[in-house]
Amino acid sequence: MQKYDTKIQLIFHFLKGAKRFFVMSALCAAMVSLLDMLSPRIISFTVDCVIGSDEPAVPGAVRRFLDMAGGIPALRAQPLLIAAAVAFVGALAALFRYLFRSCNARGAERFVERMRNELFGHIMYLPYTWLSENSTGDIIQRCTSDVQTIKRFISEQMTSLVRTFILIIMALTFMARINGHVMLVSFAFIPIIVAYSLFFHNKIGSAFEKADIEEGKLSTIAQENLTGVRVVRAFGRETYERERFETQNTGYTYFWIRLIKLMSAYWSSGDILTGSQTLAVVCLGAYLCVNGKLSAGNYIALISYNGMLMWPVRTLGRVISEMSKAGISIERLRYIMNSEKEKNPENAVTPRIQGDLVFDHVSFTYENGSAEVLHDVNFTIREGQTVGILGGTGSGKSTLMYLLLRLYELPPENGKITIGGYNIADMEASHLRRNIGMVLQEPFLFSRTLSDNIGFALQNRLPEADKGAHSKSSLNVHMEKIRQAARIASIDDVIESFSEGYDTFVGERGMTLSGGQKQRAAIAQMLIRNTPFMIFDDSLSAVDAETDHKIRTALKEFLSSSTVLLISHRITTLMNADQIIVLEGGRIAESGTHQELLAKNGLYKKIFDLQAAGAEEIHAS
Ligand SMILES: Nc1ncnc2c1ncn2[C@@H]1O[C@H](COP(=O)(O)OP(=O)(O)OP(=O)(O)O)[C@@H](O)[C@H]1O
Ligand SMILES: [Mg+2]
Repeated sequence: MQKYDTKIQLIFHFLKGAKRFFVMSALCAAMVSLLDMLSPRIISFTVDCVIGSDEPAVPGAVRRFLDMAGGIPALRAQPLLIAAAVAFVGALAALFRYLFRSCNARGAERFVERMRNELFGHIMYLPYTWLSENSTGDIIQRCTSDVQTIKRFISEQMTSLVRTFILIIMALTFMARINGHVMLVSFAFIPIIVAYSLFFHNKIGSAFEKADIEEGKLSTIAQENLTGVRVVRAFGRETYERERFETQNTGYTYFWIRLIKLMSAYWSSGDILTGSQTLAVVCLGAYLCVNGKLSAGNYIALISYNGMLMWPVRTLGRVISEMSKAGISIERLRYIMNSEKEKNPENAVTPRIQGDLVFDHVSFTYENGSAEVLHDVNFTIREGQTVGILGGTGSGKSTLMYLLLRLYELPPENGKITIGGYNIADMEASHLRRNIGMVLQEPFLFSRTLSDNIGFALQNRLPEADKGAHSKSSLNVHMEKIRQAARIASIDDVIESFSEGYDTFVGERGMTLSGGQKQRAAIAQMLIRNTPFMIFDDSLSAVDAETDHKIRTALKEFLSSSTVLLISHRITTLMNADQIIVLEGGRIAESGTHQELLAKNGLYKKIFDLQAAGAEEIHAS
């Protein structure tokens, strides 16, 4: 994987395809600066040679052009010619300014487009553990406001840095041609102003970093409250959450106020410095003028050039201070781009996923958790079997499945999981996952239509790319598969009862499904792939016993050749399984068929009796 050792390296990576626009815009900026330099020259020439009677000191080519047009007398007779020259230079500068801006904007948009695509593309392939360890609010902030900061840096600050550089060199050169002393006095202030701004930029940088961290926390609170709005309402925690937000917001505001105070101090004290620069140039120029060492026209030109210098030098301070923000933002993106993508082992194998599934002395501890979650778990599931996994909450059932899907990597010293003799750690992760269907314990549906959600695994291409005569028939085939999966998951009737059927939008701004409906939609979503291994992680917990039975009967027919893992708290859900594994505190307490386990008179029997007693109680009442 490509690593970005420096921020510059990352910037250059994002700049691919946009560089030529920025080079063009820099060239146009140089032209604009050059043309801007000409106006003070025309004015000084007018004052000294046209109004006054000095001999014009102009380059040979200009001199010849002037003579051809009738020389100075012609200009005195037709002062409009001077106005025309100024207008011409102005129009040319405007044209290059337009080209500069348009090249710059196109480069910036290309740059930011690539940046977003690269980030999203990278995040998609980061390990599940990375995504669960980093807060969503923070990741989103990096992909939005940090991206914007960098865009501004490249399209505004960087170009203004280049323009500033060109303008300073040109203005100083033009000044030096008129009077070296005045140029030196003006120039002497530049390093002072730049050093001064660098001093502030360090302070502003660290203040900005703190404000940015606070902003991340604030957006995490807001995001959590928006997604968890139901919990907040159900527990009546609006006031508490509002106060939590307000406290965080106060902290955030405090950091911004500190930042703004710093910036204000910088800008106002900077004013004193640039004011001193102007004062020095004005005084020295006046002195030279009075002593006949400088003409009035050249004095005006020098003041104009110095005025032109002031703006870019001030901008240099701003650009440098902004650069520190961009530097932090680039660092934040570098963190994402340098995070290791999910790795496949070298020479990863892609065998047919078939045969027995073996958990061989598997122990596991979550990286952020202190205690071991699974202790020496050992079992074999024969191909085509249906196996039930029963256990109390937190006993490690879901963890077993996450390990099977390699959402968490099992360190080699902690045992191994094999399918058909192949260690899953040696397989290509995507191949493994393509062959193991899993209904997650907490199903998630996208804000799309029901058919899009159920047919999620069928969508290999975007609809736009799927045009043509072929698409209609493939769409029908897809629809048929979607319906079949929905029928097995017993959600077909429910969907048909919606006015828009399979086109019903779910999720935000759409229809809200009940917990059981969501679970069934998730089952249908998984069934569509017809994988050799299928896992149902507590997937029937939210459906009533009758629907549970109906789904299991339909599944039995459909899944006859697949190896099925049924995780449940409810014995009725898994009592017909070929084998039942009972987990307790991350250990296998016992295993066997329903009858065998009952005969053992152990934990399973205890749970069975409790559940049976519960059912009888309900029956009796
Ligand atoms: N991402 C994680 N990081 C740290 N610890 C975790 C993580 N996920 C789960 N655990 C811990 O691992 C243990 C087993 O969790 P697991 O989700 O496997 O239980 P479970 O048997 O599926 O429970 P349930 O029946 O409630 O779904 C729990 O103690 C839990 O706190
Ligand atoms: Mg679980």
